Amino acid sequence: MARATSDLLLIFIFLISLPIASPSSTDSFVFGGCTQQKYAPDSPYESNINSLLTSLVNSATYSSYNNYTIMGSSPQDVVYGLFQCRGDLSMPDCATCVARAVSQLGSLCSQTCGGAVQLQGCYVKYDNTTFLGVEDKTVVLKKCGPSIGYDTDAMSVRDAVMAGLARAGGPHRAGGSGEVQGLAQCVGDLSLGQCQDCLSEAISRLKTDCGTGVYGDMFLAKCYARYSTGGAHVYTKTHNGKPFLNFSTYHSCSDKSINESEKTFAIIIGLLAGVALIIIFLTFIRKVFGGSGKI
Ligand SMILES: *[C@@H]1O[C@H](CO)[C@@H](O)[C@H](O)[C@H]1NC(C)=O
Ligand SMILES: *[C@@H]1O[C@H](CO)[C@@H](O)[C@H](O)[C@H]1NC(C)=O
Ligand SMILES: *[C@@H]1O[C@H](CO)[C@@H](O)[C@H](O)[C@H]1NC(C)=O
Repeated sequence: MARATSDLLLIFIFLISLPIASPSSTDSFVFGGCTQQKYAPDSPYESNINSLLTSLVNSATYSSYNNYTIMGSSPQDVVYGLFQCRGDLSMPDCATCVARAVSQLGSLCSQTCGGAVQLQGCYVKYDNTTFLGVEDKTVVLKKCGPSIGYDTDAMSVRDAVMAGLARAGGPHRAGGSGEVQGLAQCVGDLSLGQCQDCLSEAISRLKTDCGTGVYGDMFLAKCYARYSTGGAHVYTKTHNGKPFLNFSTYHSCSDKSINESEKTFAIIIGLLAGVALIIIFLTFIRKVFGGSGKI
């Protein structure tokens, strides 16, 4: 009974948090995932995660990429983490995005040993295994738009734009021609060579897997490539699919049992969300009725 209630609350939070908590497109959700294993509440690992996430949020005010390793008193409590903002984001937008990603991690991956969230404008990940500097071309999320049909012109422009991205150097690449836009981004812990290798893979998979789709998204574990054609403006779309991330290759941190505080956390968040809804509703009412000079 209590279990079902907290699950319902979580679903509710997830549904309402998309339109309300994501006012701008750079902050909107793309995917997220958590490890299965949970850590014990009030453990040293938990406080390490908290200081890691705080460091990431602070660091995003002056940098578009950074990594941290938080050492515990015991080797089991070490936690690694990083964030990467999309290369074209301004510093304030990067900071806002990372703060939002960290807060989504808190609700999505409550007390899990590892977790990652990709928003349109930034990526945040933490875990107890070393993934810093390790190239990883696992497909995490693939989304292909409906087929364009026989518009071979559009597809040859798409291919040319993607070839341009593959040739361009650096961790952030953007290009466009006519109605086609392309975007590619590596996570900053990769070397230039690793980044090039990862993006080559993402771009070639995009072409083979998405075929003649009006848009394509290929998110690998350490880089992504995307394109959109014509009206299919994928960069401003809000993701409405299920969050999914492949964590199957991960080790896990201490396998202590989950306790009640997980539910308490969900209920508190649910109450806060409820209060926020009421405030928004009242503001709305005041706007509608206040505007006419009467109430
Ligand atoms: C992690 O951050 C440190 C300090 O900023 C830096 O020296 C190191 O190169 C970074 N490592 C990776 C893999 O990005
Ligand atoms: C997750 O990754 C592992 C190892 O790369 C792979 O064997 C497995 O098929 C992947 N699972 C999914 C659902 O993609
Ligand atoms: C992660 O945590 C688990 C359980 O405590 C441990 O067995 C594993 O070695 C840890 N991984 C690393 C890289 O420390």
